[in-house]
Amino acid sequence: MRYVVGAVADLPPGSSTVVYPDKVKSGIGVFNVDGEFYALKNTCPHMGGPLCKGTVRGTSTAEVTPNKAPEVKWVRDGEIISCPWHHWEFEIKSGRTIFASKQRVRPYPVSIEPAEVMERLKAGVETVPVAVEDASVVLDI
Ligand code: FES
Repeated sequence: MRYVVGAVADLPPGSSTVVYPDKVKSGIGVFNVDGEFYALKNTCPHMGGPLCKGTVRGTSTAEVTPNKAPEVKWVRDGEIISCPWHHWEFEIKSGRTIFASKQRVRPYPVSIEPAEVMERLKAGVETVPVAVEDASVVLDI
């Protein structure tokens, strides 16, 4: 099943939205990370929180510098979603936790379909992607 999220222009880099297709009642979060689109199920594997309503952010990492001083760095800005309930953090691109865990959020394929392809989809004609102008973000669920 294909689900049209909306126009690419309405989801600029750094933005996200949650959509509610009939087939996925809890919703699916759609994210634009530096011009690339990703989608995750809006259910946190920890305790079922509305993950995609959380904060998109980076994360911190600690390194020991050559002079043995610890240094904390902010990395991966805009690539991490933090669950609003208990702040578990997940990679938007993969759905994996940023810490060692087998827990994972289900990712969904996202495609960008040009306007003329959208017209053909509405008409029920099989299509192939051709260009990306005046395009829509489409989920395969
Ligand atoms: S429900 Fe998401 S971190 Fe607990």
